[in-house]
Amino acid sequence: MSVRIAPSILSADFARLADQVAIVERGGADQIHVDVMDGHFVPNITIGPAVVSALGRVTKLPLDVHLMITDPDRYLEAFADAGAGMITVHLEVLPHLHRTLTRIRELGKRAGVAINPSTPVSAIAEVTSQIDHLLIMSVNPGFGGQRFISRSVDKVGEARALLSRAGSRAAIEVDGGVDASNARQLVNAGATMLVAGASIYGTPDPAEATRALRRAAEGAQ
Ligand code: DX5
Ligand code: ZN
Repeated sequence: MSVRIAPSILSADFARLADQVAIVERGGADQIHVDVMDGHFVPNITIGPAVVSALGRVTKLPLDVHLMITDPDRYLEAFADAGAGMITVHLEVLPHLHRTLTRIRELGKRAGVAINPSTPVSAIAEVTSQIDHLLIMSVNPGFGGQRFISRSVDKVGEARALLSRAGSRAAIEVDGGVDASNARQLVNAGATMLVAGASIYGTPDPAEATRALRRAAEGAQ
């Protein structure tokens, strides 16, 4: 399976977002990861549907919208209308996760569930047929540039095994502290989408960093 590279614009220069997206597109990015934070579920506040919609006007790449907010149900339609291609919600805030994922698909979007470092993979067992992707957080969500939690590699392996047993071919996305030094291990464990903020936008040449991350990831196969 090929690996999809998802640069996270959280670490980009927000004053030049169109350029910053174009740069990683030139580097062969597969999707643009957009981190939405509300200051409740996570301590930080970032962007909303208006910016997602603006991004949609400057790129043809799918917008991979990661909702780190306490009440995602309230905003699903807004992000769908804004042009999100993928919508990911956190399991930790959703007592009716099955309903939420079903709704995302009804809106015509790819549905994903995200789990924090302290949430076990087994928590997704009852929704494997409702998801197109599982996002494994490899840092505690809220900020870019944090250190990768190495236990996440085993978690990816556990997730791949659980999904295979359930007959699911859902993608496994890893988010947080991903760089060329851990990409290979993650893909070997079963990851198929790698999100990277600091290791792409924190470098002088984000296009080359995107290519380098892909090379590192694909070296695994
Ligand atoms: C963190 C976000 C990530 C973040 C990753 O809460 O979900 O998408 O942008 O950034 P890096 O790759 O810098 O850890
Ligand atoms: Zn994210």
